[in-house]
Amino acid sequence: MPVSWTNYLGVRDMCTVISHNAGGYSFYKSAEHGRITRFRPNGVPLDRPGHYAYLRDDETGDYWSISWQPVGKDLKQTTYQCRHGLSYSKFISDYLDIHAEQLLFIPIHDDVELWDIVIKNNGSRLRKLSIFSYVEFSFQHIEIDNQSFQMSLYASGSNYQDGIIEYDFFYEPWNYHFMAANFEPDSYDGVRDRFLGNYRTETNPIAVERGKCCNSTELGGNHCGALHKRLILEPGEEIRLIFMLGVGSRAEKGRLIKKKYSDPNNVDQAFQELKSYWHQKLSALQVKTPHQGMYTMLNTWTIYQAETCVVWSRFASFIEVGGRTGLGYRDTSQDAMSCIHTNPAKCKQRILELLNGLTSMGYGLHLFDPEVFKSKEEKLPGVKLPTIKPMPKPADIIHGLEDVCSDDALWLVATVCEYVKETGDMAFFDEVVPYADKGEGTVYEHLKKILDFSAEHIGRHGICQGLRADWNDCLNLGGGESAMVSFIHYWSLNIFIEAAQYLGRDADVQKYSSIAAKVKSACEEILWDGKWYIRGFTKTGRKIGTQESSEGKLFLNGQSWAVYSGAASEERGRMCMDAVNEHLFSRFGLHLVWPAYSQPDDEIGYITRVYKGIKENGSIFSHPNPWAVIAECILGRGDRAMKFYDAMLPYNQNDMIEIREAEPYSYCQFIMGKDHSAHGRARHPWLTGSAGWFYFAATNYMLGIRVNFNGLMIDPCIPKEWQEFEVQRKWRGATYKIIVKNPECIMKGVKSIRLNGKKVESPIPPQKAGSVNEIKVLMG
Ligand code: NOJ
Repeated sequence: MPVSWTNYLGVRDMCTVISHNAGGYSFYKSAEHGRITRFRPNGVPLDRPGHYAYLRDDETGDYWSISWQPVGKDLKQTTYQCRHGLSYSKFISDYLDIHAEQLLFIPIHDDVELWDIVIKNNGSRLRKLSIFSYVEFSFQHIEIDNQSFQMSLYASGSNYQDGIIEYDFFYEPWNYHFMAANFEPDSYDGVRDRFLGNYRTETNPIAVERGKCCNSTELGGNHCGALHKRLILEPGEEIRLIFMLGVGSRAEKGRLIKKKYSDPNNVDQAFQELKSYWHQKLSALQVKTPHQGMYTMLNTWTIYQAETCVVWSRFASFIEVGGRTGLGYRDTSQDAMSCIHTNPAKCKQRILELLNGLTSMGYGLHLFDPEVFKSKEEKLPGVKLPTIKPMPKPADIIHGLEDVCSDDALWLVATVCEYVKETGDMAFFDEVVPYADKGEGTVYEHLKKILDFSAEHIGRHGICQGLRADWNDCLNLGGGESAMVSFIHYWSLNIFIEAAQYLGRDADVQKYSSIAAKVKSACEEILWDGKWYIRGFTKTGRKIGTQESSEGKLFLNGQSWAVYSGAASEERGRMCMDAVNEHLFSRFGLHLVWPAYSQPDDEIGYITRVYKGIKENGSIFSHPNPWAVIAECILGRGDRAMKFYDAMLPYNQNDMIEIREAEPYSYCQFIMGKDHSAHGRARHPWLTGSAGWFYFAATNYMLGIRVNFNGLMIDPCIPKEWQEFEVQRKWRGATYKIIVKNPECIMKGVKSIRLNGKKVESPIPPQKAGSVNEIKVLMG
């Protein structure tokens, strides 16, 4: 592969980010301050070190690894496979009649990464082999893994007892990791450089070459988890070995874990539990469409990617390597909207953390660690440790208006309402949550503050101020104005009004309806540019995204949000989305802006200082693409919606990896735009809002199955050649098996709906928990 193709292991507190080469790192809870294994980010060669299993032929001295790297045998003599699945990865090699498999996963209920290894002698003679595990332990904190070593090199140690290498962190005597196995090792190394040897790398460790570790441990230095076992395999014989990379000390965890997972039945059971965990989740919504790529991605990978963003946030990958901790306000708000049906508990936790990160002024803290607001037990009273992570006080992290991103908190309005629509938990609106700075209020009051903040921070044209940035980190408008934020404001207002109506809070319905009417007329009067909507104004009043500019004429978000928010008339909506199709479309997806900027212009912002065709300056930025899909669905143009969806679908780029490079099962943050020489190359997989939004766009708007406060809506917008599709959706405990038929080959419109044989209208009221319901929909 041209680049690392990665996967995520772990669904609770322990996580491993792992590549197809078994390169990567583990952490416990925090990728910044809970690192277990070390990673050399952006390194040469790619993705090192990792979680490696070496095999050695003890008769010839030849050795290899079960994953292709780090030994990197000649591919003409050796067959390697990597299979990434939902929270597991499996490496397979076949070399000189030895078949080997290394399955990696983290059980749901234990903080340990298991390596379930099977080795089989497929040859006709007896084989004498050795196996070695290898991980490099981290100094626990990313800063001290990568910066000053003058203390950290002497702060950690390894020791060996009972077949377990224990790694300790002297300054933080509650932090231990261990490496164990289901056998009595023949040799071991806890000291990295004794295992690797001087001036060697993971490719050719001296211990593997020699066929024996040197039983090293030490206080201070760099450490590893290398356990060695000699094996004799008769022809046709197979052996199963389990390695365990765990969190905790030998005494408290290591021995128990070693005992538990030395029984392969417990390994099988843990893997089965993990499979059931995902099956259960995925069964919340399954689709069957004539478009195989769409249903493969929706039923597995896209929702899996969306959940990964919610569970691990956005700061643990090979690009974001853990240097930042916490939640990005806007990113987490959006992520938490997409998988409430598969992970309501985690989404609720995130929503509460974000509500707590809202100031009493109504703006969100742009990037904050929710742990700051949780009362912590002091672990070592009175001792100031050189390595310890300083935990700021809540007051220290409250930033002022100069650091506010004008869109940040607005996203939360829809997310909270989606949460209530999904769960039916209307009482959630009345839960009391503290503000980040002072005081507290109900969830409902938090939402009002968010909407009021945007209503109060408008510029001289009546459009929302851009502040430090809006959704686009690189549009830095300050007191200038952002069309996108006014559209999002309008969208959020309408969502809130619906909630207020449902709760019977009439005064609020009136108040916010009149604000919404003002916002809408400002948008329609001020932002329309003849063929499309402008993107905003600089602080001196210059238009951004107008036909009159020579660069940055047309911005995607200004159009899709005009339609999605409901602010644009149908006629203008069609015109502006036609402009999008004409000027921004490429076979890899829609460009964010056209033409890209070539001249720095600090009134517009950092976007003008980014190379053309990259990231915010005219790349095919993924996250806004699904908004254009939604806009086309609202306009009833199912063919166009599918064209936009298809262009970016990673599945469809599987056969052009020489161009795309990145993994074809994950949306990436962006794809190089047409103004760049590497047009089509995808970068920054996994941690992007694109997955959640594409999932939302496809299920809620293309397939048109949406939940409301009081019912299930059915409003598809599909390509006209689709004759039929199916969706199975669980909602509030009931199951809905929906079959939609389209005999007249139309794109939008529902003629009739039958629920369990009876004619009904959309929205369909929630059915009894436990019931299974058949819904037949006829388009026409
Ligand atoms: C990535 C950031 O995480 C996200 O918050 C932002 O909206 C996009 N970049 C666009 O700038």
